[in-house]
Amino acid sequence: MKVAVLGAAGGIGQALALLLKLNLPAGSKLALYDIAPVTPGVAADISHIPTAVEATGFAGEDPTPALQGADLVLISAGVARKPGMDRSDLFNINAGIIRNLTAKVAEVCPQACLGIITNPVNTTVAIAAEVLKNAGVYDKSKLFGVTTLDVIRSETFIAEAKGLKVEDVKLNVIGGHSGVTILPLLSQVEGVEFSDDEIAALTHRIQNAGTEVVEAKAGGGSATLSMAQAACRFGMAVVRGLQGEQGVIECAYVEGAGEHARFFAQPVELGANGIKAILPYGELSAFEQNALDGMLDTLKGDIRIGEEFVN
Ligand code: NAD
Ligand code: LMR
Repeated sequence: MKVAVLGAAGGIGQALALLLKLNLPAGSKLALYDIAPVTPGVAADISHIPTAVEATGFAGEDPTPALQGADLVLISAGVARKPGMDRSDLFNINAGIIRNLTAKVAEVCPQACLGIITNPVNTTVAIAAEVLKNAGVYDKSKLFGVTTLDVIRSETFIAEAKGLKVEDVKLNVIGGHSGVTILPLLSQVEGVEFSDDEIAALTHRIQNAGTEVVEAKAGGGSATLSMAQAACRFGMAVVRGLQGEQGVIECAYVEGAGEHARFFAQPVELGANGIKAILPYGELSAFEQNALDGMLDTLKGDIRIGEEFVN
């Protein structure tokens, strides 16, 4: 397996590089790219860790050497929020970064799976899809918005609130990745009863967890370490699927049948060619159905902004 991380000198990128160095299967290659000159040094640094994963680093304007032969590309290049900003405030800078990097993916490794971490994810994934489509290489089973952070936060907060082992907490988080578009399906957590007040409070906390970190970092950026762990979990799921493992399932923001919106975060089974199947997310409670109905205008608007940016 060859995994490329674009934005690899950043807060997420460096931690993600470390986790992939520790977790990728023996014999894998890890290619790190960033415009920042430190990037070859990040690769040199982690290459001293004794695992059978070969790390190389590339800086400058051209990601081509990092992308050549990649099976999976994870993009966290771009700017992060400061207090008082919404994820959509990042669009002006990050839209162009995603457009340009995805154009390189289309040219150099069109067969690769592509996971977009850069915000606003609801929109940057639509940008990537349109760029790939215009280049004639779009395969919707290989493009993902990485929403795993919403899943790991939900697992953590539920386990804390209910005194459970976190590894026993399983749930789907559907919709998108900002505010009301993040919908954790708390009604589906097995063996747990929530009061209406608990559901409202937990849902609100999960939807605002990114802002919780942005405010706690007080101008120093947004979630990096938890995001790196989330991206590593997601990336390893893609790699396990590509390697033929059966039954690998994660939620991700993908283009499905379009029942709700063109892109929608939902459980997917990963396989040898990316998405093997989009899975049903199960029955919704009345609270969840109401939240789903209420998010769709926002989600569709976010997607349209991305499509219009490219076209
Ligand atoms: P950061 O500022 O620490 O790192 C970003 C890196 O991108 C920097 O090293 C910068 O040099 C690099 N970069 C900028 N333009 C580039 C380009 N054209 N090519 C290659 N590299 C480029 O930011 P961060 O904390 O790592 O966050 C990165 C992005 O991830 C932000 O947009 C943030 O909002 C997003 N994010 C998403 C999630 C999620 O759940 N999907 C979670 C946390 C953060
Ligand atoms: C998060 O959920 O932590 C990220 O999307 C970063 C942010 O800006 O909130």
